[in-house]
Amino acid sequence: MQDYFDTNKKLWDAKTTIHKDSEFYDLENFKKGKTSLKKFELDALGDVSGKSLLHLQCHFGQDTLSWARMGAKATGADLSSKSIELAKELNKELGLDAKFVQANVLELDQHLEGKFDIIFTSYGTIGWLPDLDQWAHVINHFLKPGGIFYIADFHPLLYMYDWENNEMKYPYFNTGAFEEVEEGTYADRESGIALKEYFWQHSLAETLSALLKKGLQLIDFQEFKESPYNCFPNMEATENGMFVYGKKELQLPHVFSIKVQKPI
Ligand SMILES: C[S@@+](CC[C@H](N)C(=O)[O-])C[C@H]1O[C@@H](n2cnc3c(N)ncnc32)[C@H](O)[C@@H]1O
Repeated sequence: MQDYFDTNKKLWDAKTTIHKDSEFYDLENFKKGKTSLKKFELDALGDVSGKSLLHLQCHFGQDTLSWARMGAKATGADLSSKSIELAKELNKELGLDAKFVQANVLELDQHLEGKFDIIFTSYGTIGWLPDLDQWAHVINHFLKPGGIFYIADFHPLLYMYDWENNEMKYPYFNTGAFEEVEEGTYADRESGIALKEYFWQHSLAETLSALLKKGLQLIDFQEFKESPYNCFPNMEATENGMFVYGKKELQLPHVFSIKVQKPI
C-alpha cells in the first residue's frame, strides 16, 4: 500500500503547484475574503464559531481557513507536504490561527493529538483511500462524544463514468485499486502534467456502513442532482450556478452527503 500513497503524494505535490495559480481555486479573491465553502456544507454545519474543527484531506487549506474565518478552531490534515506548506503560508499571511498537519489520513491518529467537535471532509476525498474501515476508525478516534462528522463528496455513480468519452467505465463497487495516468488536473486541464495515480471506488453502502460500524449515529444522508464544482469534463452550468454532467433530465446524482454523530 505504501507505494500507492507515495505515488499519490507525488501527484498531489505537483497538483498543488498548479492549483495555487489556477482560476479554479481563485486564490486572489480567497485572500480578499471570499469563502471557498459551498452551500451544502455551510447549511449542514451552521454556526461553527468557537468549535474545534478537524478538516481531513484539506489540500492547501482554503476550506480549513474559511472555517477559521468563521470562528472555528480549525486544524487541516493532508498527505501532500507541498499542500501543507502552502496552507501554513496562507494561514500566516491572512493572520489566522489554523493548524496544519502533514499525514496520511489513515495514520493521522499517530501524528495529531486532541478531540474535535466537528470533523469535515469534502469533494474528492475517499476515492484516494483503499480502506474506509481504517478511515472511520480515525474519524471515531478524533470525535468528541456528541461530535459531528460531515462528508460531502462526489457521488459514486458519477465516478463510474469516463467523462471525456461519455460512457460508463468503472464498477460501482470497490474492486481494488485503479492505476491511471491523469493528463492535466481538474483545475487546469492544459497544465501539461501527466502523473500516475491510484484511486478506489466506494459504494454509498460501503461508506455509510464503515461509519455506522464504529457506532456513529446517522443524522442526515442526502443525494444532490447538481455539483457546486465544474471539475469534470463536459459539465454544464445550471441557472442557479451549479453544474451537471450528462443529460439534465436523467437527474444523475452528483454529490452525496452524510452527517453522523458520536453518541454522548
Ligand atoms: C481534491 S482534494 C480535496 C480537498 C478539497 N475538496 C479541495 O479541492 O481543496 C484531495 C486531497 O486529498 C489528499 N489526499 C490524497 N490521499 C490522501 C491520504 N491518503 N491521506 C491524506 N490526504 C490525502 C490530497 O493530497 C489532496 O490534497
